[in-house]
Amino acid sequence: FDDFDVKNEPVLGYRAGSSERAELQSELERTAAVTEEVPIVIGDQNIKEGEPQYQVMPHDHGRKLAKYYYAGEKTIQKAIQVSVEAQRRWDRTPLEERVRVWHRAADLMAGEHRQRLNAATMLGQSKTAVQAEIDSAAELIDFIRFNVFFLKENAKYQPISEEPAVTRNSLRFRGLDGFIAAISPFNFTAIGGNLAYTPALMGNGVLWKPSDTALLSNWRIFNIMREAGVPAGVVNFVPADGPTFGRTITSSPFLAGVNFTGSVPTFNWLWNEVGKNLSRYRNYPRLIGECGGKNYHFVHPSADVQTVVTSTIRSAFEYCGQKCSACSRMYIPRSLYEPIKQGLLEERSKLKIGDPTDFKVFTGAVIDDKAFTRITTYIKNAKNNPKNKILGGGEFDGSKGYFVQPTIIETADPHDKLMIEEIFGPVLTIYVYGDKDLSKALDLVGTSTKFALTGAVYASDRKFLDTALEELKMTAGNFYINDKSTGSVVGQQPFGGGRMSGTNDKAGGPNYVMRWTTPQSIKETF
Ligand code: SER
Repeated sequence: FDDFDVKNEPVLGYRAGSSERAELQSELERTAAVTEEVPIVIGDQNIKEGEPQYQVMPHDHGRKLAKYYYAGEKTIQKAIQVSVEAQRRWDRTPLEERVRVWHRAADLMAGEHRQRLNAATMLGQSKTAVQAEIDSAAELIDFIRFNVFFLKENAKYQPISEEPAVTRNSLRFRGLDGFIAAISPFNFTAIGGNLAYTPALMGNGVLWKPSDTALLSNWRIFNIMREAGVPAGVVNFVPADGPTFGRTITSSPFLAGVNFTGSVPTFNWLWNEVGKNLSRYRNYPRLIGECGGKNYHFVHPSADVQTVVTSTIRSAFEYCGQKCSACSRMYIPRSLYEPIKQGLLEERSKLKIGDPTDFKVFTGAVIDDKAFTRITTYIKNAKNNPKNKILGGGEFDGSKGYFVQPTIIETADPHDKLMIEEIFGPVLTIYVYGDKDLSKALDLVGTSTKFALTGAVYASDRKFLDTALEELKMTAGNFYINDKSTGSVVGQQPFGGGRMSGTNDKAGGPNYVMRWTTPQSIKETF
């Protein structure tokens, strides 16, 4: 391998009059003008079967962005067979060649295809240009480049050979013996790319089930990877009904791993199915999951009010609170409550919600009718509960798009559903603690929910920060001090959480690639 410097892809600004804004706008027009037809792809075959499904624009749900199909059980089984066969050839392709393909893909994503990816993410997942850029451009490209870098770093380890003239030891990375099912979410286009193509980089065959609500952006990734040189059959594009897909993959003897981001109930269900089918498998399937969160901002009396306000607004409400890492519960000491509350309400009232292709808009719509119903049910229940007070927002309108106003609620009950359940929407709940009850409040952070994805503490008191680092150690896989709980960057803050937030294999970190190889030690004696 030639050494290369790996760097995070610069994030473009999309200022008025910039060339990137003009390019993005024409790509948005092109993408919105048609309902793109997306087939199932197995090997080199495009398949259209069953009732067509549609991906609509969440902010204008009468408009169909893509028409696609669900693979039935037989087709999924065919995909398994094709990926297992393709894997055997692919695993023999020299690592250098695979790495070249990945570099080519990253260059295509950073260059000529950047705005195609962003446009699909904006229209299909209702992201603003800024939110699309940090996802389907920067983070996606970073995943592709950094995973290659991490693979090369890991490959630098050479087993010791004490007498190389007599015996030589080596270690080689093999793909897993079977197929990997990548089941990806809607909220980050980049996560789809990472879930499907990191196993592929490591020599695996993959069935990629994209999220229905991220269909078009994920389809565009698939095409770029093919254009870059990923051979047919290595990754198969298999949109499907969730339970059908889950049952078919978990009952196949060839299942070698599941790379999942989504909800706790779905991951638990998959895990149970794998358990039930264990005796059928040739391997113990690797189960990697990033599941959910109830991420917190904890404010100490020594915190800087402005930092707390700005960071919380961004963390709780950017992309409608639909980042896995979004802050949705907050602990504020009574002594700082008034200024923080005033600041949050003032900033909140300035947020413009609407069509995300309008550059003045802060955030678009929530992803679909199910999300709209779930989120607004939490809001309605809060309105009817005397322990909860809506401080700002609370309005919603799903008639044209699934719009929910950023909502701030104060609760008198730190164990209220709003403080412990994942809502996955623009709802921030605040619990005010007495300054004298600091340690009780700290205790609530870790004991009141089963999640441990991200969290942030705000303080200038060093002694308190040291205490928080210890007391809150297991409450977040990604922990921030005086900064928002969102916005991890590949290679800078590897991402993932423990407890019911997942297996914490840290996407965007050096260990992730190693989950997708089954290394072989070779001792050769001369
Ligand atoms: N990596 C994203 C963030 O930190 C969440 O998936 O916001």
